[in-house]
Amino acid sequence: MADASDTIDYGSYLELDKLLSLQHPQSHPEHPDELLFIIVHQASELWFKVLLHELHGLISRLRNFDAVGSALSIRRVNALMQIVASQLSALETLPPQRFAQFRGYLGRSSGSQSDQFRAIEALSGLRDPHFMAAIGEHGEPPAIVQQALQQPTLQDLFDALVAHEGTTLEALYMGPAPTALFIIAEGLLEYEQNFSRWRFLHVQLVERIIGPGTGGTGGTLGAKYLQRTISHRFFPNLWAVRSRFYGAPT
Ligand code: HEM
Repeated sequence: MADASDTIDYGSYLELDKLLSLQHPQSHPEHPDELLFIIVHQASELWFKVLLHELHGLISRLRNFDAVGSALSIRRVNALMQIVASQLSALETLPPQRFAQFRGYLGRSSGSQSDQFRAIEALSGLRDPHFMAAIGEHGEPPAIVQQALQQPTLQDLFDALVAHEGTTLEALYMGPAPTALFIIAEGLLEYEQNFSRWRFLHVQLVERIIGPGTGGTGGTLGAKYLQRTISHRFFPNLWAVRSRFYGAPT
């Protein structure tokens, strides 16, 4: 008997007709670089979608005190974050004078309106006052962000796992042999580094294309605003524990 899988092929499984009909450059006549600009943003949003999915998986594994599963989830989350960051290099081929030719067609649209990006930051544990102000800037934060804010942070969940295993963060780093929890701790720190790397590459891209003093289409000070976000931390405890090895400054 024929089942649905007999009629599915590459194009229909991936819904390519729909996917490939979603790029609509706004410039008129169409600027030859606008397609690249749209696709890097759309591709980033697709990766954000799977990143959010995997972060939810990580959260449920941490909640279930599943250390091995959590370590595997973090590996995937890190692979995804590296891809998102490396995509920015495609836009490094966009020179300032060419972006200026179609920037006016973007209106007020800006990456700062990315609900998925804000949900990722919230789910990862960002509660910095600047971040809280940014998500409330256009009224009520979207549902996806509000739901993320209601979850415990990754740091809280990791702390609970450490306590559940009857150990402490210090002991993970001081113990004679690395444990699964140590691998998770280092994986989370790596996630923070990968995320900050995106922030750094993005702000440098912004400076390269629109310059350090140009305001953003989203209404911020542009690179100056973005520079401040680089110091946001998801896992302050994982950074702090490292100082223990070096004693207090004299
Ligand atoms: C020509 C390339 C780009 C330029 C000139 C640019 C410019 C900017 C500027 C000026 C801001 C600050 C907010 C504002 O006032 O608009 C911003 C924020 C942002 N952009 Fe971009 N961007 C570029 C590419 C990208 C790409 C490819 C993504 C991927 C999705 C992206 C995602 C974001 C996000 C998520 C924010 C919010 C960051 C935060 O508030 O921490 N941008 N961008």
